Amino acid sequence: MSADQSRERYAVIGNPVGHSKSPFIHGRFAAQTGEPIEYGPLLAPVDAFVPHVRAFIEAGGRGMNVTVPFKLDAHAFADTLSPRAAAAGAVNTLKFDASGVYGDNTDGFGLVRDIEVNLGVSLKGARILLLGAGGAARGVVLPMLERAPHTLTIVNRTAAKADALVDQFAQAARDAACHLSGGSARAIEAGAYDVIVNATAGSLDASLPECDDRAFGSGTLAYDMMYGAHPTVFMEHARKFGARAADGLGMLVEQAAESFYVWRGVRPDGAPVLAELRALLTAPSHA
Ligand code: ATR
Repeated sequence: MSADQSRERYAVIGNPVGHSKSPFIHGRFAAQTGEPIEYGPLLAPVDAFVPHVRAFIEAGGRGMNVTVPFKLDAHAFADTLSPRAAAAGAVNTLKFDASGVYGDNTDGFGLVRDIEVNLGVSLKGARILLLGAGGAARGVVLPMLERAPHTLTIVNRTAAKADALVDQFAQAARDAACHLSGGSARAIEAGAYDVIVNATAGSLDASLPECDDRAFGSGTLAYDMMYGAHPTVFMEHARKFGARAADGLGMLVEQAAESFYVWRGVRPDGAPVLAELRALLTAPSHA
């Protein structure tokens, strides 16, 4: 048996997928933990998610990360869902075993862990403002509520979508004794927030989501779920008010670490891999 055959197979499926940093991250996690896995990219045509996943399972594949545009397909494909994947309405992690296809979503956990562990900001008792109400926002609401923040305000350009999230998570908020509200940018409450998360797609085209400037203060952590070689417009904007700003690179690493844990039962250390990725991203050749 060759070395490759003795390794259990994992992949990230997407379209496009060539840019994905997941093979790099999981390669580092495998080296760090000694887990015998191999992990590569899997490109699928946008209308052929299911046959590509089935072929991967047939070939002995044990699990997958799922990226754009397949997170809803993966949610539909899974036989069983974790509560956080059901709440997110999307799946970024698939696990294949004798009991079938298990769908999970580690994105929100990755965000919370990056904020609390890597950035050192506790969400318990915090006032949190979430900008956006699309798929990315929906995926992080339950993991944030589980940290028992004091307040979670969700605002969105299309207010009705923020209202729908507030309705969906009303019970979870009551369970966490969290004051959950939202709507348009007018729903932003007075006083600086402890944490502001930009979950809009605005940073993709360098546009700033509507947000009351008074929400930012010197004690605010302004977190953009996007990342790149340079600070996003949202991060630059937040810094004008003295806020601390972070991008989503740590979330990327930590969601991967949690997927690794779901598959292998072993938790890799995200911090050194994040430091390495950050250095690669900001190297002159990327700038
Ligand atoms: P994703 O999966 O990345 O969340 P999505 O489900 O299409 O993608 O959601 C995109 C989010 O970014 C939405 O909250 C969207 O606002 P609308 O619901 O009003 O469309 C938000 N968004 C995108 N571009 C934006 C912009 N330029 N300014 C403010 N919000 C923006």
